[in-house]
Amino acid sequence: MIPPESPSMNPARLRKVVFPVAGLGTRFLPATKVVAKEMLPVLDRPLIQYAVDEAVDAGADTLVFVTNRYKHAIADYFDKAYELEAKLAQSGKSDLLALVQGTLPKHVRCVFVTQPEALGLGHAVLCARPVIGDEPFGVILADDLIWNGGAGAGRPGALRQMAAVAAREQAGVLAVEEVPREQTDKYGIVDAVPISERAARVRLVVEKPKPEVAPSNLAIVGRYVLPARIFDLLESTRPGAGGEIQLTDAIEALLHESSVLAYRFEGTRFDCGNKLGLVKATLAMALEDPALAAATREYLRSRGQG
Ligand code: UTP
Repeated sequence: MIPPESPSMNPARLRKVVFPVAGLGTRFLPATKVVAKEMLPVLDRPLIQYAVDEAVDAGADTLVFVTNRYKHAIADYFDKAYELEAKLAQSGKSDLLALVQGTLPKHVRCVFVTQPEALGLGHAVLCARPVIGDEPFGVILADDLIWNGGAGAGRPGALRQMAAVAAREQAGVLAVEEVPREQTDKYGIVDAVPISERAARVRLVVEKPKPEVAPSNLAIVGRYVLPARIFDLLESTRPGAGGEIQLTDAIEALLHESSVLAYRFEGTRFDCGNKLGLVKATLAMALEDPALAAATREYLRSRGQG
C-alpha cells in the first residue's frame, strides 16, 4: 500500500504561502483609501485571486495573509457570500454561482495575521512566523502578477517552478528578472553565478542600489521560497533602506549560511503595483480572452496603437 503523502516525502510541494498585503499602496490613492491594492481587478478577478491560484498550483493548502486593519475586503472575498449565493441559486444562475464559489478550493484554508504598522516587507513576513512554524514556505507579492497561461494552459506557475528547484537543490529560491539598468534602484538586485539555464547561485543581494553601483541588472521580483531560518534572521534585522525592515537584508544574512538561488521563471511579469503595469496586464489578459480579444485589438487599432 502506498502511504499517504506527507510534506517531507514530497518536498517539491509548498504547503504554506504568505501574502504580505499590508502595504499602504500609495501609488493607487485615492482608490486604496478603502480598497486594498491587491483587490484591484485585472479584467474580472482581483490581483489576489491570480496570486492565490498560483499558490494553489504550487501545492499550497494554507494561505497566510498579512494584512492591516483596513483589509477586510480580502477576507470577505475568500469567505462564503451567503446572501449572494442564495440569490444566484434561487434564480438558477449556476454559472455565476460557480464563479462566486470558486475563489478558493475546498481543501485550502486562509489564515489572517495583522501587521500592526507598515514597517516593511521583512517585518510583514516575520508576522507570519507563528503560522509557518519550521518548514520552507513561499511568499507571493500579489501586485507582481506572473502569468504563465493560468490553469487551462497546463504550464506550471512561477511558484511551482521555484518550489521544484528549491526541493531539488535544497536551497532558498528568489524569482529574478532582468530590468533596465536605470531601474536598479527600485529593486533588490542580485549578483549570481549561473548553475543552469534558469538558475544561478546568489553571492550578494543589495536593496535598491543606484545604477552605477548595482552588481547586475538582475532584480528580485515578488516570489520567494524561503527556509524558516529566515525568521531568526529577520528578528535581528535592523531597519534598512527607507527605514523599513527589508526582506532583502535578511536574505543577505541567509546567504552566509546556506544556499540561495536566483531563478529566471518562465512566464510574464506585470508590475501591477503601478498604474502602467496594471494597464498592461489588463490589455494582455483582454487580448488572450476569446470574448474580448477582437474588440480590444480593434479598439487599440482605432487609437492608432494596434
Ligand atoms: P510596496 O513596496 O509595493 O509598497 O510593497 P506598498 O505600500 O504596497 O505600495 P506603494 O509603494 O505605497 O504604492 C511590496 C509588498 O510588500 C507588502 C505590500 O503589501 C506589497 O505586497 N508590504 C509592504 C507589507 O505587507 N507591509 C509593509 O510594511 C510593506
